[in-house]
Amino acid sequence: MTLVLGIETSCDETGVGLVEDGVLLGDALSSSMLEHVRFGGVVPEIAARAHVQAIVPAVHEALAKAGATLADVGAIAVTAGPGLATALHVGVAAAKAYATALSVPLYAVHHLAGHAAADTLVHGPLPAKSVVLIVSGGHTSLLLVGDLVADPIVHLSDTVDDAAGEAFDKVARVLGLPYPGGPAIDAAAASGNASAVAFPRPLTGRNDPPLGFSFSGLKTAVARHVETLARAGAPVPVADIAASFQEAVADTLIRKAIAACRLHEVGTLVIVGGVAANSRVRALAQERCAAGGLELRVPPPRLCTDNGAMIAAIGDLLVRAKAAPATLTVPVRPSVQLRWADLEHPPQEL
Ligand code: KG4
Ligand code: ZN
Repeated sequence: MTLVLGIETSCDETGVGLVEDGVLLGDALSSSMLEHVRFGGVVPEIAARAHVQAIVPAVHEALAKAGATLADVGAIAVTAGPGLATALHVGVAAAKAYATALSVPLYAVHHLAGHAAADTLVHGPLPAKSVVLIVSGGHTSLLLVGDLVADPIVHLSDTVDDAAGEAFDKVARVLGLPYPGGPAIDAAAASGNASAVAFPRPLTGRNDPPLGFSFSGLKTAVARHVETLARAGAPVPVADIAASFQEAVADTLIRKAIAACRLHEVGTLVIVGGVAANSRVRALAQERCAAGGLELRVPPPRLCTDNGAMIAAIGDLLVRAKAAPATLTVPVRPSVQLRWADLEHPPQEL
């Protein structure tokens, strides 16, 4: 058995995980989130500097939790894309250094495939076919997934504008809530009325693409609603607006995800990414999947947001599939599309 060290630095979280044979043995997470708050979004240079400071302590923390040492590590997996170039460089450089120093193989993996793999750490291997809804700050995608490392991943749809998490972050700003907006809206919505404002469900009309996503119009609808109240000198009911917006996003996401399962005759829906941590998204998915006879798999919130365990999980799958490792010259690929989990050696080229 091989102990895989996974490294994630594509955005503002420095994540390290240790996985062996599908089991998460230890992990550590350091976030520069608070350093970005006053800018209202992630500043790449600040994130990169934070990764440099956090990466080695995070590796040691994860090893200590696993009761292991560097000498026990048998392979390294790292997010090589997509993500912020400066941030990705830190993780990839660290991964190359560890792989060289320890004389172990290196795997360069796709961040989104990592998100999907996170679920295998809690619910075991994925079934032969599943629909994966990835909802994060940068992505809102529906994927048709078979074997995560052996089969090509079929991208069914993407948002045409803002990602769902991005909409949460922007709407939070409109409501005067802190960054990141998702958790803040989730908390504010807890005491709000989700039926207070009938916000639109984007692209759910009869003639709209059944799997298409668009969140920019919904975000604008919230901004207009708040502007209208402010102009009239009326108070802004933050909790009600947060709850109504959250309901519109959750309703739209789950409707589309279930439509994808029906269209492709798949019985399992997996939801991952930062927005999968949202309490209403989770509850509504549970309700509708149960009613529709679908198996729902959602990892616990800490494995939904960016983390190193998910990258170690993909690395572990690649090691067990005997995939060829990457070379030490493997580049970062900030805007790589998702087709294969392994960025340098797609399985068909092995
Ligand atoms: O997957 P992730 O950690 O990073 C990316 O790869 O983007 O996702 C971050 C996004 C942010 O937009 C954040 O606001 C959102 O996930 N998020 C949430 C919640 N927790 C994080 N959105 C809604 N509800 C939450 N509880
Ligand atoms: Zn992510």
